[in-house]
Amino acid sequence: MQPNNLSSKEINPLGSLDEWEEDLLERYPDPEKIATAKSTEAYRNYEEPARDTVKEFYRLNHTYQTYDFVMQKREQYLAFDKKEMAIWDAFEFLNELVDDSDPDTDLDQFQHLLQTSEAIRRDGHPDWMVLVGLMHDMGKVLCLFGEPQWAVVGDTFPVGCAYSDKIIYSEFFSANPDFTNPAYNTKFGIYEPNCGLRNVHMSWGHDEYIYQMMKDHLPEPALYMLRYHSFYAWHREGAYEHLLDDHDREMLKWVKLFNPYDLYSKCPVQPDWKELKSYYTELIEKYLPKTLKF
Ligand SMILES: [Fe+2]
Ligand SMILES: [Fe+2]
Repeated sequence: MQPNNLSSKEINPLGSLDEWEEDLLERYPDPEKIATAKSTEAYRNYEEPARDTVKEFYRLNHTYQTYDFVMQKREQYLAFDKKEMAIWDAFEFLNELVDDSDPDTDLDQFQHLLQTSEAIRRDGHPDWMVLVGLMHDMGKVLCLFGEPQWAVVGDTFPVGCAYSDKIIYSEFFSANPDFTNPAYNTKFGIYEPNCGLRNVHMSWGHDEYIYQMMKDHLPEPALYMLRYHSFYAWHREGAYEHLLDDHDREMLKWVKLFNPYDLYSKCPVQPDWKELKSYYTELIEKYLPKTLKF
């Protein structure tokens, strides 16, 4: 169901997209530790006014991300008929997403991508993983195509089956029409047991969009990192075991390897782009086509 006549507060409940990621850091402050039910509970009880916008963001996300909504967005965006850009132009386009709320402390989108990729490179990981760092949030351009924030960022989760209570603010799913739809509200819903995540539709957002853009160009672990980097209920909370197959279990270690670079690489010192440009130009040429279709 596509919600009609959304107010501007329902389109952009967050002051900026970064508020969601800053909130993730409060939920997962420790890179090593996998969250426990207890720490999630402690987080949920941690109420303060600054988090109201994030809570409202999740209320909208959990209310409107239905199975039908996801199908509609897939049809709309996976045709890739919106725009065609050279990669460097695409980064400039992404950077039109400026953050009005806090211009002093927040880095632009490209800086976050570059800091993520540089941290991966420093640790000596394969070059395709460096490229994952550079590209992983490119899907946020969905905002520039007019999508509401809750259809671009936020934790992702399977649609078409029961929502896990490991998903943050899962209580808000009670307002989602799928919650009372018997086709979608059982443990397996429309899926077969252990069917594998490739057969499961995730809530719509920047992860699936960039995965679809990159799927012919990068190795399988890279594609898992892109496609599931916001699926915290899986990679941090261990939910949805009943939908996984052995391939997913094998790939999980790559998704977990990537996550700390996304969350913990933010740093006020910006990489010197002039020194880095030739490395990244070559890296992009090695794996990606001259232009990207959006
Ligand atoms: Fe992301
Ligand atoms: Fe990111």
